[in-house]
Amino acid sequence: MSIMRPTRNLLLGLCPMLVLGFLYYSSGKLHFRVWGQKPQPEVDPILSVGRIVGPVYDKQGFLVKLDGKLPAELMYKYGNLSEGACKPGYAAAKMTAIYPKFVKPAPMFLDQNFKRLAKVSNYLPPFGFKTQEKIIDVILAATKKYGLGSDLDSLACKRCIIVGNGGILANKSLGSHIDEYDVIVRLNEAPVSGFVKDVGSKTTIRITYPEGAIQKPERYEKDSLFVFSAFKPLDFRWLRQMIFKEKPRVTEGFWKSVAQQVPREPSEMRILNPYFIQEAAFHFIGLPHNNGLMGKGNIPTLGTVAITMALHNCDEVAVAGFGYDMSTPHAPLHYYETVKMSAIKESWTHNISKEKEFLRKLVKAGVLTDLTNGI
Ligand SMILES: *[C@@H]1O[C@H](CO)[C@@H](O)[C@H](O)[C@H]1NC(C)=O
Ligand SMILES: *[C@@H]1O[C@H](CO)[C@@H](O)[C@H](O)[C@H]1NC(C)=O
Ligand SMILES: *[C@@H]1O[C@H](CO)[C@@H](O)[C@H](O)[C@H]1NC(C)=O
Repeated sequence: MSIMRPTRNLLLGLCPMLVLGFLYYSSGKLHFRVWGQKPQPEVDPILSVGRIVGPVYDKQGFLVKLDGKLPAELMYKYGNLSEGACKPGYAAAKMTAIYPKFVKPAPMFLDQNFKRLAKVSNYLPPFGFKTQEKIIDVILAATKKYGLGSDLDSLACKRCIIVGNGGILANKSLGSHIDEYDVIVRLNEAPVSGFVKDVGSKTTIRITYPEGAIQKPERYEKDSLFVFSAFKPLDFRWLRQMIFKEKPRVTEGFWKSVAQQVPREPSEMRILNPYFIQEAAFHFIGLPHNNGLMGKGNIPTLGTVAITMALHNCDEVAVAGFGYDMSTPHAPLHYYETVKMSAIKESWTHNISKEKEFLRKLVKAGVLTDLTNGI
């Protein structure tokens, strides 16, 4: 065991408080209105001289001037649809309008051709699957399924919602609205039972990493897909044990206790494409590349990873339960427990403020609909 491990555990140990992602920055800073401040765009000096007219992009490649208006070509495409109809390709089209580098195709889950995914084959977890190919082959041979299921896969237009775990979701009675989406994504151990009025009753996929997985077998909902997101090589071993119903022998290396069993058939389990972690970290948010290795402040939260997945795989994307409601400073951190916002420490793995800058761009441009207005 290397001396690196305690450090890494410490790093990762700060994670659970931030499970849904991106709740909060620090209460002191909130008072100074950092929350509402726009990031200063880093403008190309040549452009800022004013000789070249045209769209100006920030360092990450996002249009600096964002508004919710539809570009003319999209107006033509979607203008005739009746109010409320699902707009095919809408999220990706709006994303491309503000971020021209966006390339839509990126499969949601790994399938048996995963080694052909060039962008992830040369990165170690969490940004790719290098070194884990053999174990992934074994896992995928057992799950045998790689999609959402035939009904959803064949939908001409999919509306997805990512339900974050934030306290901002409590007491808003959004449950029946959330249930109207085609794909309802929940994160880690966020409960449904007992909170249906506010968070809805359906779960299409539940994305989780080992430390975040529901530990009590009876708490798993019936119909959802168990979607695994790996943050470290060890996580794949845990998944293999869960799939083959082995007792996990290795408990060392996790930053908290992990589930001992996942009451799911292999055919109900999927591996999330690690490209979404890579793209969120290095392209969208602009976290330190660190030679492609996990390091201080370069891991996106699971909520942002799920949003990135949805941009590639859904026609319309909404979120709820993200962010922090400033009007209730003593609000609970999560909708399902009484821990207060003030319990949060600054994280070493995530960069919450940078992540929030990215999400604000998406909401401002109307790429994402934020049902709880917390972003
Ligand atoms: C929308 O309606 C207008 C007027 O009826 C028509 O000219 C246009 O071609 C339609 N656009 C699409 C994308 O169908
Ligand atoms: C929601 O309402 C319940 C019951 O009125 C209350 O106990 C709880 O604190 C409320 N939660 C939030 C986040 O306002
Ligand atoms: C987050 O990013 C900002 C700006 O790049 C940087 O100053 C800050 O140190 C980062 N925080 C963490 C926790 O890495």
